[in-house]
Amino acid sequence: MTDLKKYMNEKLQLFEPYMIEHVNAMQAPDILKEAMIYSLKAGGKRIRPMLLFAALETYGQKAEMGLDAACALEMIHTYSLIHDDLPAMDDDDLRRGKPTNHKVFGEATAILAGDALLTYAFEIIARSSHYSPDQCVQLIRMLAFAAGPAGMVGGQVADMEGEKKALTLSELEYIHRHKTGRLLAFSVMAGALIGGADQEETELLEMYARHIGLAFQIRDDILDVEGTEEELGKPVGSDESNQKSTYPALLTMGGAKEKLAQELEEAFRALRLLKRPAPLLEAFADLIAKRTS
Ligand code: IPE
Ligand code: IPE
Ligand code: MG
Ligand code: MG
Ligand code: MG
Repeated sequence: MTDLKKYMNEKLQLFEPYMIEHVNAMQAPDILKEAMIYSLKAGGKRIRPMLLFAALETYGQKAEMGLDAACALEMIHTYSLIHDDLPAMDDDDLRRGKPTNHKVFGEATAILAGDALLTYAFEIIARSSHYSPDQCVQLIRMLAFAAGPAGMVGGQVADMEGEKKALTLSELEYIHRHKTGRLLAFSVMAGALIGGADQEETELLEMYARHIGLAFQIRDDILDVEGTEEELGKPVGSDESNQKSTYPALLTMGGAKEKLAQELEEAFRALRLLKRPAPLLEAFADLIAKRTS
């Protein structure tokens, strides 16, 4: 087992029960709770929470300090997937190896389960006993920015508007950096904030986060062509059937892989400039660029 696999297994044992506890503590109608839990428990790699812990631990803090921020982040990510799969959006039937939320609960409940995950995420941070009032405000500000109009939602709108059109590379980069990059970057930036990284280190981590964020979505585009439904737990070929602009479509598959390698190299470069070794963050960049699921 690689060190990263071991690390992730260990942190998953901490994270999963903690997140489920938060969900069980919710005061909500049964059907809403059921729909939220369905998607949260459907699996998922939990890359964002794990990355948050890795950034935090790079600065000598315990992973426990990151739990509430990590739960909030995973909830917002999960909401984004529920909405992304809706018939009005990508219209996909399979997610995390299971029928999509709207296939099981119907569209209206799926929309509301997404809304609930989004809002509950902020409540979790606001109520957390792990952060100072100032850290709370910062985390909420950063997460709202990453998830909102200047982040994931803005990227999703651009993605939708770009369907059936030939986008330029810079338009496509805008989409990827926002719809996926911003939330992924939050993982690292939240870890840096809670871990107490100084400004210089934070700027380098931001550079790292930007590159792995883009790399993550380039890999997602590649896997939509080359991956298997079994490994990914979601349909392949969804981008082509929705006539999306993707990196392989724009640059050819070879070009997309080259761009991915460049982003990975840039992420490593940022890490080398840090004052401390960051082997976990290095391993995460590698995992993101090479993942098959
Ligand atoms: C899928 O994210 C959606 C994108 C942002 C490309 P993940 O690949 O992290 O999905 P899960 O959480 O493992 O299901
Ligand atoms: C959207 O990207 C990611 C978000 C949910 C913000 P995709 O539409 O490519 O994600 P997948 O491939 O369905 O997971
Ligand atoms: Mg989509
Ligand atoms: Mg999709
Ligand atoms: Mg995709």
